[in-house]
Amino acid sequence: MTQPDNPGNARTQEIRTQIQQLSTEYHELTRGQTTRHHRPDFKMPSGACFDAEDRTEAVLAALDLELSGGQAVVDFERALSKTIGMRSSIACNSGSSANLLAFATLCDPSLDGHIEPGAEVITSAVEFPTTVSPILQYGCVPVIVDADPKTGNLDLEALEDALSPRTRAVMSAHTLGGPYRADHVREFADSHGLWFVEDNCDALGADIKGRPTGSFGHLSSLSFYPAHHITSGEGGCVSAESVQVAAVTRSLRDWGRDCWCAPGEDNRCMSRFDRKLPGLPEGFDHKYVFSRVGYNLKMSDLQARVLMSQLQKSDAFTEVRNRNWKILNEYLSDTPGIDVLTSAEGTGPSWFGFAFILDEQAKLSRSQLQVALEEAGIGSRVVFAGNITAQPMLRGRRARTIGDLPVANRITRDGLWVGVYPGLSQEDMHYMGKRIRKLITDGR
Ligand SMILES: Cc1ncc(COP(=O)(O)O)c(C=O)c1O
Repeated sequence: MTQPDNPGNARTQEIRTQIQQLSTEYHELTRGQTTRHHRPDFKMPSGACFDAEDRTEAVLAALDLELSGGQAVVDFERALSKTIGMRSSIACNSGSSANLLAFATLCDPSLDGHIEPGAEVITSAVEFPTTVSPILQYGCVPVIVDADPKTGNLDLEALEDALSPRTRAVMSAHTLGGPYRADHVREFADSHGLWFVEDNCDALGADIKGRPTGSFGHLSSLSFYPAHHITSGEGGCVSAESVQVAAVTRSLRDWGRDCWCAPGEDNRCMSRFDRKLPGLPEGFDHKYVFSRVGYNLKMSDLQARVLMSQLQKSDAFTEVRNRNWKILNEYLSDTPGIDVLTSAEGTGPSWFGFAFILDEQAKLSRSQLQVALEEAGIGSRVVFAGNITAQPMLRGRRARTIGDLPVANRITRDGLWVGVYPGLSQEDMHYMGKRIRKLITDGR
């Protein structure tokens, strides 16, 4: 826990300790509740899970007025790189920003082998919209393959068919926490000289043959929105396997600046005032040299401190998520009328939700089931954008589809997911399993 600047001041320390104790007491009295649903026992599909330590860390960070990005962000980036097994991480303000930064990095002219407008990028038909948006935002063409009927993720069998002389990258998510074989995608990418962006937003804690998801792409992304495995409210992160690539991402996150000084640091390059750059006056302050067309997508220290506290609990969260998923699976895997989406062979999931597709034996349609579930106090969600080609966002945009996308269409029409997040107890899961099974087999 960060200490105040003036630890010698006994009164400051005393106040700090009192605030810490009061925050813990407040947390215990409110039983840590963060859900704002008007029905207290409603089984939300997702939600933030904070303990007293997280709350206290947020309160102390506010007390320290650590409101912009600084050392806590750097510490969190290091801890995350270690967790994922990547060389470098660049924290940012959302998972969508992480995907944008990852793709912008690959399109940056300073990067060897960068992607040019008009290039094709292979992605799955069933994605979160902002996995696909950066491809379009950078003038590239998404090449959309169908979802795998077993996992709902990118169908690896379709990759060869999607390839063309213009293909430059694969970008796809481990949707809802059940991984696809990203190791196979990386082999495919390497054998064709492609970049691979692994959207790991839904899958922190998952693995492929023991190696963490998020470590297979040249770049990978995470989201820290409350639905995700660890949260800071809003937040995200890009991880990169190469420090050179990470430097481009960091620059793009930080206004496109050339300087690589950490926040609050000056003159790391030892030549801040004596550079000669074409077009700029001699000695122009290196801190204000912009070598890329960038953004400001930074994370604050307050968020990073909450995330550091959350990260300590990440394995425990995954354990509960997977336990909850298994309870539902016991009720639903053999239930007629429903196909449960599972993870690929050889992978260890870190479930974000329990997803399934209804078939013709189901007694209710998907929307009838959603209404009945609401009445039963069970929140549900469709599988993100469904078939992304059916979404208005793709209208009038250049995209290429591989085949008729029958699985994605089925997911759009009949797919649904319910929660497994750690805010749900085993009792909740048994209730949900029984209720869902009955609704699908009896229609009531
Ligand atoms: C797979 C995936 N990618 C990206 C995102 C975007 O993350 P954020 O909401 O933090 O922008 C999400 C959001 O849920 C997601 O599920």
